Amino acid sequence: MGQKMKAVYYEQFGDLNQLITGELDKPEPGEGEILLKMKSAGVNPVDAAVARGMLKDVIPTEFPVVPGWDVAGIVEERGHAARRFENGDEVYAYARRPVIQHGTFAEYISLPENYLAHRPQSVSIKEAGGIPLVGLTAYQSLFDAGSLKEGETLLILGASGGVGSVAIQLAKNVGATVIGVASEKNHEYMQDLGADKVIDYSSGDVGERLREIAPGGVDMIFHCSRGDSLNQSKTTLKPSGRLISITNSEPDVPEGVMFQYVFVEPNAQQLDHLRQLADEGNLTLPVTETYSLDEAGAALRDIESLHTRGKRVITP
Ligand SMILES: NC(=O)c1ccc[n+]([C@@H]2O[C@H](COP(=O)([O-])OP(=O)(O)OC[C@H]3O[C@@H](n4cnc5c(N)ncnc54)[C@H](OP(=O)(O)O)[C@@H]3O)[C@@H](O)[C@H]2O)c1
Repeated sequence: MGQKMKAVYYEQFGDLNQLITGELDKPEPGEGEILLKMKSAGVNPVDAAVARGMLKDVIPTEFPVVPGWDVAGIVEERGHAARRFENGDEVYAYARRPVIQHGTFAEYISLPENYLAHRPQSVSIKEAGGIPLVGLTAYQSLFDAGSLKEGETLLILGASGGVGSVAIQLAKNVGATVIGVASEKNHEYMQDLGADKVIDYSSGDVGERLREIAPGGVDMIFHCSRGDSLNQSKTTLKPSGRLISITNSEPDVPEGVMFQYVFVEPNAQQLDHLRQLADEGNLTLPVTETYSLDEAGAALRDIESLHTRGKRVITP
């Protein structure tokens, strides 16, 4: 009989109280794969959305599903041709596979080695487990899709959450001016991460406030929130501005504005770059709450509020 591991899983889509913390078969590393011992698994809004069945028509699924797309862990075993990492290496990964089934809310996960990168050493392994998904999302949005450059002004809608916290720092690192939008309790937090100006979306029209702060308009809007903030602010984009959204694939886009919707992809080279930035002191991601595998249901309920600060992670 094969070995067992502790894991969180569900047998059907629906309510989050269907999550079970129990035993599943411990995976074995396949060809080109690495077996990781999970040390930290970032909790993301998408984990709750997947469990509720909201992505079932776009990404195939096989039950039982172990949720979780983020991981930092230790290389435990290597499949036949997997030779980029040594046993004992500390790595991190954005672990979304083409079929949703084997996630990171478990003691072990097996992943293709080309998903993995060495983790940053300047942050704890717990913090590292929260970086991949939001880090790659911010990176691919600001640079691959948006080509953000030095001297430009960037508006981030939802700047105190996981994605926004990284986006503020990546943008400051290339020399952009950053205006962060979140509720007032998060203003000092956004400024500590580097935001030059902050706006409270709940105390008036974001667009009106922006016209006072940036009368010449903004070069790019990075849309990582829901609510009315985008409609209120999009007319402040310069005529040749760019709108990058990760929450709405079909917004009403002002004429002349370049629009792109981003759905984050695994990318180990970019994880290497994020590690460099962290190890140079230019990227952190504050962990504001830690859950055990037994508390995964609470973790998903909390994260789907879309009002948590920084990053939340599960540890084994
Ligand atoms: N397409 C993709 O590849 C992709 C990747 C990652 C995430 N996402 C999506 O992007 C969104 C953000 O992800 P996340 O992990 O950063 O979420 P998060 O950690 O929950 O952060 C949400 C942020 O939105 C702010 N916010 C809430 N209501 C707002 C409003 N009406 N106007 C402006 N800001 C508001 C929150 O601030 P307060 O707490 O102060 O309200 C917080 O800063 C989620 O919907 C997630 O599903 C998509």
